[in-house]
Amino acid sequence: MEILVAPSILSADFSDLKSEVKNVEKAGANWLHIDVMDGHFVPNITIGACVVKDLKKVSSLPLDCHLMIENPEKYYNDFVNAGAYSIVFHYEATLDKTSDLIKKIKQENVKVGLSIKPATKIEEIKKYLDDLDLVLIMSVEPGFSGQKFINQCADKISEIRKINKDILIQVDGGINEKTAAICIKNGANCLVSGNFIFKSDNIKKSIEAIKNAK
Ligand code: DX5
Ligand code: ZN
Repeated sequence: MEILVAPSILSADFSDLKSEVKNVEKAGANWLHIDVMDGHFVPNITIGACVVKDLKKVSSLPLDCHLMIENPEKYYNDFVNAGAYSIVFHYEATLDKTSDLIKKIKQENVKVGLSIKPATKIEEIKKYLDDLDLVLIMSVEPGFSGQKFINQCADKISEIRKINKDILIQVDGGINEKTAAICIKNGANCLVSGNFIFKSDNIKKSIEAIKNAK
């Protein structure tokens, strides 16, 4: 199973974003993870579609847009137009409107992903798995990088893998080579990482450490 590594630019130096992105690209990153926060769904405000549009001009990496926002149905299209490769929204933000939004995003020919916070159970999203390209298990409370990995999320990874053999399982929050090993063992195949990659002295080594974590 190929392991994809998606560095989260939330931990990058925004005053030099282009070089930061080039560095992870050269170091073997598979995707670029973009954390979009609105100050409502999470207690932090970060990046909007205009940043995605400009990143598209300077990077050939797939732009993986993680929407931690309320009313994602109002904004997903801006990210599609900006050149997103994938749109990942939160189940807690859509609840009974989840199916509708999955359908709409699919029609745009971008990958669609559904994310859940640490307290949300797989039982609640089970019925959507067959319609998704990826499911994103949050291993910290969404809002900030640099937090500690919550070990209990490992069970959720294996629970999904048992239900669906093919879906991409992405894990986000507190990923380093040790926690990556736990995720991979349980069936994850796409790991998001902010601090461990961008704050490292050797970005290439950090990306490889996640990819080959055992
Ligand atoms: C948290 C974000 C994560 C975060 C990851 O809400 O979704 O993508 O930036 O950063 P680290 O790897 O430092 O926990
Ligand atoms: Zn994220």
